[in-house]
Amino acid sequence: MSLHSRLLVSASSALRQVRYLHKTNLRCGAGGALFVHRDTPENNPDTPFDFTAENYKRVEAIVSDYPDGHKAAAVIPVLDLAQRQNGWLPISAMNKVAEVLQMPQMRVYEVATFYTMFNRKPVGKYHIQICTTTPCMLRDSDSILEAIQKKLGIKVGETTSDKLFSLIEVECLGACVNAPMVQINDNYYEDLTVNDIENIIDDLQAGKSPIPGPRNGRFSCEPKGGLTSLTEDPKGPGFGVRADL
Ligand code: FES
Repeated sequence: MSLHSRLLVSASSALRQVRYLHKTNLRCGAGGALFVHRDTPENNPDTPFDFTAENYKRVEAIVSDYPDGHKAAAVIPVLDLAQRQNGWLPISAMNKVAEVLQMPQMRVYEVATFYTMFNRKPVGKYHIQICTTTPCMLRDSDSILEAIQKKLGIKVGETTSDKLFSLIEVECLGACVNAPMVQINDNYYEDLTVNDIENIIDDLQAGKSPIPGPRNGRFSCEPKGGLTSLTEDPKGPGFGVRADL
């Protein structure tokens, strides 16, 4: 291959990579949602939201974990509480969080739009978050994503018409050693194959509760082939202490 042809090949592969990197919709933020809020009939500052009496007590308990004068530090757990109560976070819920934590509304919006854990539009009963960050990608998260989309007939950012499943693509969920993995509501399903994710979806559709965790026989994140270090019995706290001391 001539130098000219090589340059052309490397330029075209660089172009392909650049296109790939720019595939992400730059106007989208957490969970594929728009960074900006647009009022809709079901999501506007007048959408009814208030914490229940029980959750007001929880807010109080959460805030008491932080030093005086630092209520705003509780914004993530309090937003989470609002979302658990309502199923998703309308702007009125964010405004309520700002009010109870006595912080500017914009500071709450900044947090809610940054983290994919906050759903700024309604999600299905089972909210599937698939990690496609590098370790999961290298373990073929693409095939898991494709299998979910095919089985449910939805794309990333969509919800099934029966409101049972919604799907978003997220960054690392901190379970890289069990890649590829998905989070469904509060559960992690790990070491997945296409067959595994299809079975999990079948179980959820049938009203069952699939057991979370690794699917390849591991208990947790230990080496699949058995321990490779720290294999001896522990020597106890006195080990290594000189007898004459
Ligand atoms: S890269 Fe998927 S959990 Fe970390």
